[in-house]
Amino acid sequence: MEAQATTTPTFELKDIISHAKEYGFVFPSSELYDGLQAVYDYGQNGVQLKNNLKQLWWKAMTQAQQSIVGIDASIFMHPLTWKASGHVDAFNDPMIDNKDSKKRYRADQLLETKAEAYAEAGTPEKGTALLHEMARLLDANDLAGVRDLILAEDIRCPISGTKNWTDVRQFNLMFSTQVGSVAEDADVIYLRPETAQGIFVNYLNVQKTGRMKIPFGIAQIGKAFRNEIVARQFTFRMREFEQMEMQFFVRPGTEGEWYDHWKEQRMRFHQAIGIAPGHLRYHDHEKLAHYAKAAVDVEYKFPFGFKEIEGIHSRTDFDLKSHQELSGKKIQYFDNELNQNYIPYVIETSVGADRLFLATFCEALKTVVTGEGEQARERTILDLHPALAPVKAAILPLTKKDGLPEKGEAIYKALRTEFECYFEEKDSIGKRYTRQDLIGTPFCIAVDHQSLEDDTVTVRHRNSGQQERLPIAALADTIGKQVSLTSILRNL
Ligand code: GAP
Repeated sequence: MEAQATTTPTFELKDIISHAKEYGFVFPSSELYDGLQAVYDYGQNGVQLKNNLKQLWWKAMTQAQQSIVGIDASIFMHPLTWKASGHVDAFNDPMIDNKDSKKRYRADQLLETKAEAYAEAGTPEKGTALLHEMARLLDANDLAGVRDLILAEDIRCPISGTKNWTDVRQFNLMFSTQVGSVAEDADVIYLRPETAQGIFVNYLNVQKTGRMKIPFGIAQIGKAFRNEIVARQFTFRMREFEQMEMQFFVRPGTEGEWYDHWKEQRMRFHQAIGIAPGHLRYHDHEKLAHYAKAAVDVEYKFPFGFKEIEGIHSRTDFDLKSHQELSGKKIQYFDNELNQNYIPYVIETSVGADRLFLATFCEALKTVVTGEGEQARERTILDLHPALAPVKAAILPLTKKDGLPEKGEAIYKALRTEFECYFEEKDSIGKRYTRQDLIGTPFCIAVDHQSLEDDTVTVRHRNSGQQERLPIAALADTIGKQVSLTSILRNL
């Protein structure tokens, strides 16, 4: 049923954070001990929403594709992996400290903030020029030049207000630990900073055992770890997070068309989960990562501005070639059509599960006005696509007597094997509806006295607040169709 509602402006980040905590979506990690910076835990509703997003991505990128398969590689990998990938030498952020406040900043972020200020002040061309200059200096690894630029732009520490800056230094973002039982003999290994390398080192295994023909892809969902210098904006930038990555292996020379293909496909995905087209945009990279030939971000309009949720990268044969060189093992593909061996080129799509979660959550939290005139009522709802909602249907007996709870429980037991359900008999029906609106439950099933007589129930729709009478026997099918991930996959 269509929402008959008007929507008021979206919420600020602080509202998002408190809603996420109050309704069991996201908690600060180890909060009992005052938390751990930039690490978060997903609560009972958050894990459902996140799992639904991950499942949807997995189905969209494997099941619904002719030539993409999935793997699940380990977090720990041979240390040479990260030498070959370039992460040991080049996975750095430039950092700078303010000597007065003792606060540490990412030098590039200070300059980006200044560029945004130029744009807001109506002089975007100054911001663009600044970003070009920053990219040039960083590419040349001219860190003294980056510091001079910060000084020339009169950038001050937001805390101390001074320009008393240290030199700019490179800071490697990889976490390391030791493997082996005796400390002296232990080898340093890294916690993977991206899942992609697990795919690259398994390229030959998958290609051979799966008899894969180019073009084909390998997808993976898994944890990644980065020692972010400045961790902020809630789950946007975390030290432990999850990535959903796919490497698409193509014939050299065709990478341009596949880059365009995946750029378009991934945008469709974000729109299909319910993000308004106006809240999404592409952003071409000024400064390319060490492995990339071309790169574009899909950005979402967070309460703190447009920011990256996904990257699409044309990685050439950089990774496979480096692994071939360092491992000494041949990584080649024999192309029957060309009668030729080559190292495939790669187009990568890489989206953070946590950032996708945050974008989905920010997009969904809204205030709607239903009814007109004196009947008009303002409600806060979590307008999630029904297939993504943590709970699909809440079964709510109108009162706690006359056999209504028993009737409700029988419905709950029958439906909970079909989709995620919730049963509650406490509090007024209005309060219970409100609680379900706030966690995004698309359907509330009220069990009343009529239900005892004719086996029908009232089904209330979250967005419109409208109700309809349905036979209990029809619930599994009617609701089931609307809450299935297939309903989104069909629109991709
Ligand atoms: N394999 C390519 C790669 O890792 P990236 O742009 O560094 O590329 C890809 O990361 C995606 O991973 C980002 O678009 C973002 O969604 C997510 N991501 C990266 N760092 C993150 C962090 N510190 N916290 C949460 N998500 C992060």
